[in-house]
Amino acid sequence: SPETADAAAILDRVEASLKNDLVPVEIFNDEAVFRAEIEQIFTKCWVFVAHESEIPKAGDFVQRRIGLDPVIVTRDGKGGINVLSNYCRHRGTQVCQTDAGNSRFFKCPYHGWTYSNNGDLVGTPHMHDAYGERLDPKAWGLIRAPRVATRQGFVFASLDPDGPSLDEYLGGAGWMLDLIVGLAPGGMRVAGPPERYRLHADWKTAAENFTGDGYHVDTLHWSTEEVAVSQGLQMTCEIARIYEFENGHAFAGHAWTKAVHPGYVLWGYAPEITQHFNLSGLDEAQLHVVNHEPPTVGTIFPNLSFIRLNTPSVPGGPMSVITSFRQWQPIGPGEIELWNWQFVWDFMSEDEARDSYVNGQFTFGSAGIFEQDDTVAWEGAPRAAQSPWMRKAGMEFHFQQGNNSQVDQSHDPSWTGPGRKRNTGYGEHAQLHFYRHWLNVMRGNTGAGTEGAE
Ligand code: FES
Ligand code: FE
Repeated sequence: SPETADAAAILDRVEASLKNDLVPVEIFNDEAVFRAEIEQIFTKCWVFVAHESEIPKAGDFVQRRIGLDPVIVTRDGKGGINVLSNYCRHRGTQVCQTDAGNSRFFKCPYHGWTYSNNGDLVGTPHMHDAYGERLDPKAWGLIRAPRVATRQGFVFASLDPDGPSLDEYLGGAGWMLDLIVGLAPGGMRVAGPPERYRLHADWKTAAENFTGDGYHVDTLHWSTEEVAVSQGLQMTCEIARIYEFENGHAFAGHAWTKAVHPGYVLWGYAPEITQHFNLSGLDEAQLHVVNHEPPTVGTIFPNLSFIRLNTPSVPGGPMSVITSFRQWQPIGPGEIELWNWQFVWDFMSEDEARDSYVNGQFTFGSAGIFEQDDTVAWEGAPRAAQSPWMRKAGMEFHFQQGNNSQVDQSHDPSWTGPGRKRNTGYGEHAQLHFYRHWLNVMRGNTGAGTEGAE
């Protein structure tokens, strides 16, 4: 189709631009590119759909999305997790109309075909008169995601029956996830349902930011330093540590110990929290990371990101550590729905969990003092991408930072963990790593690679 041809031409341009550490503007708001992303990326990569703590009991379900498709994530009577397409097999009507709940059955509102929460068709109105022997219920259940797997309670689905397992796909990002949420028995749980809001932004801009854009922090978020919610923002690049893993995943940590937060180990968690941690199973590299350079942000390709921040709940107030996982749900070209889950440790009391939730919303909720800065800034790219003037001018975004820097940006040869680690946030390497993988997947190459090597 002409649209496919358009997308192919744009990908050629992306490839040429990336060779010069540039990214052409048109990928941030283009119908053909968007449709190709839904087809190439969201039907082939492992996509996060829910956390197990959202569906702890038999019958619990949440409605989610994989790309543009609504799915129901259920806990069936046998304790199994199912990721079911939310399209009735009769005419395609959504059989589940609510965000979350508990039910053994989903009854389609159109003609009443009724499915079990494991996806099986269990009956239809007037089944005998209407169908006689012509309807085999076993053959007409809800279509299931071909593969479902979990890591640390995070439920991922892949619409591709083949390809790497979830653990292979996550690679070093799984190793990092183990550190972030697995340090205490029971791990972490969601502090409530996800908050959701629409942005006129492209999902890649948000995902890219969370790979390790330390460079925006002391400009865009400077007001947080002025009101004493933050401290030391001007060092966010200088003391950043970049972790790049296979399949486009990247995280950024910070070595605050050497700067303005002396004694910063284990993200600055208070002893009441760290006493629950068990570090005995960690390897040498993991111990080094949690004690000296713990991850602050990260993106698991394509659209799941994370942030953990030590922050006060009011300016100058006592510090506490918040953890948010967020998903950049594609809605259309240049438009996303941001899904934001605050996470708390499973061992936390209701009071501790509420405090962490409040701090999390204060910083990274829809009205959060950081979140508002970011989401407004991200609205420029899709606007520029829609501009005939900018397209005609061949506008490319600049990712050439650090080409003349004195700082050694090459990866740390002493690193013994997975992937690559760099000892500075300068260089925009994590962002380029993300876009190089994006191009690979858009071209149909989903094999594990560590693109972006210098
Ligand atoms: Fe669901 Fe007809 S569309 S029963
Ligand atoms: Fe930000």
